[in-house]
Amino acid sequence: MSELSVLVILGVIIALILIYAVRLRVVPVPCGRKARNEIISYLPREACRVTDFGSGWGDLVISIARARPDITVTGIELSPLPYAVSRIRARINQLENLFLIRADFRKIDRDPGDVVVCFLDPRVMADVGDVLNQRMAPGGIVISRAFAIPGWQAFGEIPMQSGSDMLYLYRIGSHLPG
Ligand SMILES: C[S@@+](CC[C@H](N)C(=O)[O-])C[C@H]1O[C@@H](n2cnc3c(N)ncnc32)[C@H](O)[C@@H]1O
Repeated sequence: MSELSVLVILGVIIALILIYAVRLRVVPVPCGRKARNEIISYLPREACRVTDFGSGWGDLVISIARARPDITVTGIELSPLPYAVSRIRARINQLENLFLIRADFRKIDRDPGDVVVCFLDPRVMADVGDVLNQRMAPGGIVISRAFAIPGWQAFGEIPMQSGSDMLYLYRIGSHLPG
C-alpha cells in the first residue's frame, strides 16, 4: 500500500469521526478502566438490564458484560466507526450478555431496561431527560457521568475517584423536584 493510500484512509477515518462528533455534539472519547470499575460498582446487585446511551468504542459495555454475566447490557451508538470497532471487540470477547445497536438513542423506540448509563455532553442532556421521561419505567436508575440532566433531581452526586468528573444518580419516579 502506498503512503498516499494510507494517508487517504487515515483522512477518511478522521473525517468520519469528526462529522459524527459535530452532528451528535459528542466526541467519542474512551472510558478508562478505573472510571469503568467505578461506574460498575453503582450497578444494582441483582440481575438487571442496562443500556448505555452512546456506547462509543464499547469500553464500558464490554466491561459491564464481563464483570456481570448476570446483567444483559445493550450499547446504542450512532457513529459508524466507534460502533464498528465495538462490534469487533464484542465478537472477540464472545460475550453472550452484550448487544450492540447502531441507532440514535433519541429516536429508537425501545425500553431501556432497569439502568441507563451515559457519558455524553451538556448540550444533549435535555434530550436524554426527554427520552427517559417517555421510555423508562418508574424505579429505573440513571447513571450519568460528568453531566447532570437539567431540571432533574439526583439522589446522588458523587465525585469520581478516577478523575474530576461527578457521577449523577437518578431514580425515575423521584427525579422531578417537588
Ligand atoms: C464519550 S463517548 C461514551 C462512550 C461510552 N459510554 C463509554 O463510557 O465507554 C459518547 C458516545 O456517544 C455517542 N452518541 C452521542 N449522541 C448519540 C446519539 N444521539 N445516539 C447514539 N450515540 C450517540 C457518540 O458518538 C460517542 O461515541
